[in-house]
Amino acid sequence: MAAQVAILGAGVMGETLLSGLIRAGRPVESLLVGEKRRERAAELEQRYGVEVVPNRDAASRADTVVVVVKPQDMGELLSEIAPSLRQGQLVVSLAAGITTAFIESHLPEGIAVVRVMPNTPALVDEGMAALSRGSHCDEEHLAEAESLMASTGRVIRVPERQQDAVTAISGSGPAYLFFVVEAMIEAGVHLGLPRTTASELVVQTVVGSAKLLRETGEHPTVLREQVTSPGGTTAAAIRQLEDHKVRAAFLTAMEAARDRSRALAEGAL
Ligand SMILES: NC(=O)c1ccc[n+]([C@@H]2O[C@H](COP(=O)([O-])OP(=O)(O)OC[C@H]3O[C@@H](n4cnc5c(N)ncnc54)[C@H](OP(=O)(O)O)[C@@H]3O)[C@@H](O)[C@H]2O)c1
Repeated sequence: MAAQVAILGAGVMGETLLSGLIRAGRPVESLLVGEKRRERAAELEQRYGVEVVPNRDAASRADTVVVVVKPQDMGELLSEIAPSLRQGQLVVSLAAGITTAFIESHLPEGIAVVRVMPNTPALVDEGMAALSRGSHCDEEHLAEAESLMASTGRVIRVPERQQDAVTAISGSGPAYLFFVVEAMIEAGVHLGLPRTTASELVVQTVVGSAKLLRETGEHPTVLREQVTSPGGTTAAAIRQLEDHKVRAAFLTAMEAARDRSRALAEGAL
């Protein structure tokens, strides 16, 4: 029997993980869900055949407890499940800005904690998750958390002090790229293309460029230079992006996301 995994809070991210684990071949009998809304529980039972139980039951039956509620609900959930936990269990948190110290302070002494920053491309098994260990976490616990997250994409380990930067880059990152996609589609419409044509051109260009980056392993500057002939059309466009300080705007935007992540963490403590 595979180790039992409980997912507490099956919203967008919780369901993404649940469906990824099932697609990756974890038997549904080894999974449990804790979800407070009755209709949502019924929906998940019907869609996946997964057992939905009260949080405390899920926490006491599982080997690994994944907490996926909003950061502001985390303190209450941890206090609720703390009496049901035992030594040797692993608690994995996917909540933005919630530190392992905060989680450990709500749990019995010695429980292993791993903090993860996931992102939404996990929905299509192309997620990027960054893991950090808490103070009672051994190699086996980290490997289990890695294997959970590997079911929805790539996984790296980072020291916890880098998690605010990770949140700013890969956690929020899909939104910046969707923003660029929106802007390029709008531009295509301004240039006279039908919206569906503009969308198809932009989406495939983004997917193709991402694949080119990954499969060639080339530096983005090299790939950009390949498309930029001297005095050509791309050079004219890049000149405008530089004049409008788009590179600097990305830097300040991500600094703002990093600072917001820090502030959220301080607010939770
Ligand atoms: N979505 C993202 O792109 C993303 C990326 C990285 C990290 N995350 C992290 O993932 C976590 C969840 O985000 P989300 O977008 O999935 O939010 P969400 O869709 O609101 O999901 C949270 C779920 O938890 C449920 N819940 C709240 N309190 C609960 C409790 N005490 N017991 C059981 N279930 C409870 C909520 O139910 P109700 O609706 O009934 O309250 C909801 O179904 C957040 O901490 C977020 O920081 C999300």
